[in-house]
Amino acid sequence: SRRVRMLKRQMKCRGDIHRLNTPLLAIYESLIPPVEERAKQKQLLALLEKLVCKEWPESRLYLYGSCANSFGVSKSDIDVCLAFNEDIHNKSEILLKLADILQSDNLQNVQALTRARVPIVKLMDPTTGISCDICINNVLAVVNTKLLRDYAKIDARLRQLAFIVKHWAKSRGVNATYQGTLSSYAYVLMCIHFLQQRSPAILPCLQGMKTTYSVTVDDVECAYFDRVEKLGNYGSSNQESVAELVWAFFNYWAYGHDYANSVISVRTGSIISKREKEWTRRIGNDRHLICIEDPFVVSHDLGRVVDKFSIRVVREEFERAADIMQYDPHPWVTLNLNLTF
Ligand code: CTP
Ligand code: MG
Repeated sequence: SRRVRMLKRQMKCRGDIHRLNTPLLAIYESLIPPVEERAKQKQLLALLEKLVCKEWPESRLYLYGSCANSFGVSKSDIDVCLAFNEDIHNKSEILLKLADILQSDNLQNVQALTRARVPIVKLMDPTTGISCDICINNVLAVVNTKLLRDYAKIDARLRQLAFIVKHWAKSRGVNATYQGTLSSYAYVLMCIHFLQQRSPAILPCLQGMKTTYSVTVDDVECAYFDRVEKLGNYGSSNQESVAELVWAFFNYWAYGHDYANSVISVRTGSIISKREKEWTRRIGNDRHLICIEDPFVVSHDLGRVVDKFSIRVVREEFERAADIMQYDPHPWVTLNLNLTF
């Protein structure tokens, strides 16, 4: 069966996988944003705060997504949430007003996308060269950004693995939800779940521990253990290298995961069944061909964008990556991870 095949591969591979460690870590290092980039992001956020505050003194701006969850590679766009204390029923009106304000301050390429699934204003700041998307009241995204950032603090291997997986996904064209492939957010959750499942575990399940942080957003209670500095060297009894983990990650998604029955769940730190979640049938546009439970909005399957065509593409890419890691003498080149060499 698949599982046996995977174990056989695992035994064959353990021996020489370590030679990949140095090149993979070099790729990771090359993707880390330089400190000047953080400073420029802060500079842009300060400018936006000044402009927004004039119009809506009660509002607040938050960074979310990869610029704030520590999974952002160099030269990423930044995601900003404009948060109001009250519910906003007419987001379009606010977004159009916001676009006006930004335009008159010489920000470039200002565009209000009021009909998008998540309506936003896009802009480019000519001073810092940074592009930015601003959405309204997407506070759940701000909270799940904090969860991801807290997980990243526990063990350095999460950030290393996720950078390589995201970089691979972008270069292989499987990181575009509008084309039926997965979001970066989904890939990071896959990495977290994968490290929770290692034996011994490299990451704990923060939502299964004592609550030290709790907020309720849009009627969803978001609670977990966020004092991660108290965990010490949590994953240190597991000595797997990043090369082993990248290899095992692709193998898991290529040959180990039970796509027919399983849902991966960071919330529980385990695999749960599709049946339990009633994700066995297609309802409306929600297909459940690869199931990734959102840690807070548990009815939300981040795999729902994947359709019967793109699931083939995604799975074939996992298989290709696993096979290249296994057999290719220069996997990082063939996997398209060589952009920096
Ligand atoms: N998000 C979400 N639910 C989704 C997709 C995204 O809540 N289905 C939120 C998450 O907070 C995520 C943020 O939107 O961190 C940005 O999503 P995405 O662009 O997928 O991830 P980034 O981390 O910004 O990745 P990239 O570096 O590719 O921009
Ligand atoms: Mg982003």
